[in-house]
Amino acid sequence: MTIIEQAELERQQRYIGQIGQCLDAYRSETGFSRRYWIHTYGCQLNENDGEKIAGLLAEMGYIESGDLREADLIILNTCSVREHADDRLFGNLGRLKNLRLEKPDLVIAVCGCMMKQPEHVTRISRSFAFVDLIFGPQDIYRLPELLYHRLTEGKKQYLVGDEDTLVEGLPVHRARRFRALCSIMFGCNNFCTYCIVPYTRGRERSRQPGDILRELRQLAASGYREVMLLGQNVNSYGQDIGDSDAAIRDFADLLQAAAHEPFYRIRFMTSHPKDISEKLLQVMAAHPVIEPHLHLPLQSGSNRVLERMNRQYSREQYLAIVRRARQLIPGLAISTDIIVGFPGETEEDFAATLDVLEQVRFASAFTFLYSRRTGTPAAEMADPVDPAVMHERFTRLTALQDAHSLDVNRQNLGQSVEILVEGASAKQEQVFSGRTGQNQLVNFTVADPALLPAEARRPDGGIDGNRLEGGLARVRILEAKTFSLFGVLEAYRP
Ligand code: 5AD
Ligand code: SF4
Repeated sequence: MTIIEQAELERQQRYIGQIGQCLDAYRSETGFSRRYWIHTYGCQLNENDGEKIAGLLAEMGYIESGDLREADLIILNTCSVREHADDRLFGNLGRLKNLRLEKPDLVIAVCGCMMKQPEHVTRISRSFAFVDLIFGPQDIYRLPELLYHRLTEGKKQYLVGDEDTLVEGLPVHRARRFRALCSIMFGCNNFCTYCIVPYTRGRERSRQPGDILRELRQLAASGYREVMLLGQNVNSYGQDIGDSDAAIRDFADLLQAAAHEPFYRIRFMTSHPKDISEKLLQVMAAHPVIEPHLHLPLQSGSNRVLERMNRQYSREQYLAIVRRARQLIPGLAISTDIIVGFPGETEEDFAATLDVLEQVRFASAFTFLYSRRTGTPAAEMADPVDPAVMHERFTRLTALQDAHSLDVNRQNLGQSVEILVEGASAKQEQVFSGRTGQNQLVNFTVADPALLPAEARRPDGGIDGNRLEGGLARVRILEAKTFSLFGVLEAYRP
């Protein structure tokens, strides 16, 4: 692991200053600011990386553009986890080619996990040679330098480092106003045989507890109500931090310390079943601010498949964790990830997965078709599942899970639930939305505007959803659907 030193960050800061001067000169000449547009694929860790890229650009004086066509700098922050994401990148690059022809001074950058796979970099060099900048997930801190050289010398800059870096203090331009992402560790040591992440994100490295708590304190002080602690495998946090902090040695300790910050809610993702400790469950049970929700990827319910996946737990162990967690944490919602069609998966193996679904009754599940990732051990396994069989199993799996999700949601009918409001619903006028501590999406209407503070009420009698964002609402649930609940406001606290 390489810790990026202060001196290196100061060197990058000088490039930020120099680009800033160029952008200022452009603004006084033309009256326009330079704009960037960024698209992030994949998981929330990648989203948080995108926020750091945006933070660096904001320091240079770039402003965010809502419209790709108006941008002077386009950044595609890629994901490798399944093939679908790869396809989308190359499709989008094809479309960008014309834009680049129309706008010769447009700068196009591609970064993220896919750039750690040399075959993708080669393909871009050969077929999408108009891409100006390439960098890996570990090289974000060097973006100022790369961009400076591209802007001043006009030369392409492709840099994908081999080191597993740990950087503190990058500026973050957060996408949301009340919910913040906080990456507590990077990389993964688990080497599940289907997964590309250990190859693209490198070995596990945990941030120092002091650095994380400082970030949390700043977030709370600047009005963030919810924070999500992120890592590929959060509950192995701390195995590499040594004795630097006697009070915080593992994820349970960190979560406990975080629970003392004045947030409305603390969430975390993703947990690996092999690293769930009794201590962690006890901390969750002891602190209501930690949401009663555990995202616990199962992947498969068959011991034979779990072994071939190198998941390091059995279905019995998984079920035992679920039982214990539910015993300790009343109202706990458990969600999961499941892969269908892992090489060699038989009908019997698949039936074992459905059986675990029946036993656990997950609140929700992300379900995936197995995607062969070159370079992973599973890619070499000799017995792929026929795509038609895979799709047919997938349909059965999602039908069962949808029925369970609906059942779980129906349990809230007639109840009053507390939600953290996210704002106006994207689809319907005067419908607002938020999430319960169990991570259920709740849409609601307001029958009595007097329940709301004056600034949320518009002169025309309507309600300004933006003014509700970040508040806590009590909602009486009138309707339960598979993916959401619907109700009416009973009380609100900003
Ligand atoms: N194919 C299908 N799904 C995958 N995932 C990771 N790698 C693959 C793959 N090769 C899924 C796992 C993981 C989630 C983030 O993505 O279920 O938990
Ligand atoms: Fe991939 Fe397994 Fe690590 Fe998750 S725990 S990132 S699935 S290798």
